[in-house]
Amino acid sequence: MAPSNSKIAGARLQQLQRVMEESSRRPFIRAYGQADLEAIMHICRVTAHSAAAQEPANTIVPLIFALPYVILHPEYTFVLDNGHGDCVGYCVAAPCSATYLERYKSEYLPTIDRSLYPPPPPCPGAIAGNEIERIGKNGDVAAALMQRLYYPDESVLHSKWPGLLKDYPAHLHIDILPEYQGHGGGKNLIAALLAKLQADSVRGIHLMKSGENKGAEVFYGRMGFERYPVIMDGGESGEIGRKTGGGVCMVQKSS
Ligand SMILES: CC(C)(COP(=O)(O)OP(=O)(O)OC[C@H]1O[C@@H](n2cnc3c(N)ncnc32)[C@H](O)[C@@H]1OP(=O)(O)O)[C@@H](O)C(=O)NCCC(=O)NCCS
Repeated sequence: MAPSNSKIAGARLQQLQRVMEESSRRPFIRAYGQADLEAIMHICRVTAHSAAAQEPANTIVPLIFALPYVILHPEYTFVLDNGHGDCVGYCVAAPCSATYLERYKSEYLPTIDRSLYPPPPPCPGAIAGNEIERIGKNGDVAAALMQRLYYPDESVLHSKWPGLLKDYPAHLHIDILPEYQGHGGGKNLIAALLAKLQADSVRGIHLMKSGENKGAEVFYGRMGFERYPVIMDGGESGEIGRKTGGGVCMVQKSS
């Protein structure tokens, strides 16, 4: 016996509901909420440079590249939600790097547990830049990160190139869990951040990436970033935007 019209309509309705439910579970970008903090710290550790994949270095990485931004600038933290409420990627930023540094030192650093992370004596010879990449091959990455955690001035201010913060005062970090990479999540996170910067009339944004991370350079290029058009390593590499030690600086003006 052929199914009745009402049975066909019922089956179609169920099918439609399934499709709608499924599509509502697709990854999407949303604002940060406190419940995302643990996931953000985890993602930052998982996606860290391979030289910082081991302890004790791995635990220090999010204390520098994720936690202070979330605490100081939750309004500039965007989350890639997997459609089930879980954070599977994030983008953090500071709209004004100089102000961020002041607040990092006065508000954030005092929250670090010094019994767990004792401040090292300052090492004046340390070159600001990509500490992990520079030290990673044969050095003590954890020690370099502790310098970066407690003495961040040069790594944030880049005072040898005063034009950088003048034209591009904001900076960012972005990371997505490996299984969620390559599906447009990064593009949407950056788009959300750029829209917020533009709404807040921030002139421009810069970032420092590992020179070894060639894929990220292609990604940022697609997002409208370009190499900072200045020789930063005294001509050593023959490239613009490359710092001593290998890190690469990329920039974008707000449109
Ligand atoms: C880099 C990262 C944020 C990119 O996010 P993503 O969701 O994977 O990228 P998307 O899918 O949004 O890609 C956007 C565009 O960039 C390109 N792209 C992204 N990653 C790329 C890669 N590794 N190599 C080449 N192109 C890449 C995509 O092809 C796409 O191009 P299209 O717009 O022409 O199609 C993400 O892969 C990641 O977290 N990687 C590990 C951590 C990391 O490297 N963070 C950055 C540190 S500086």
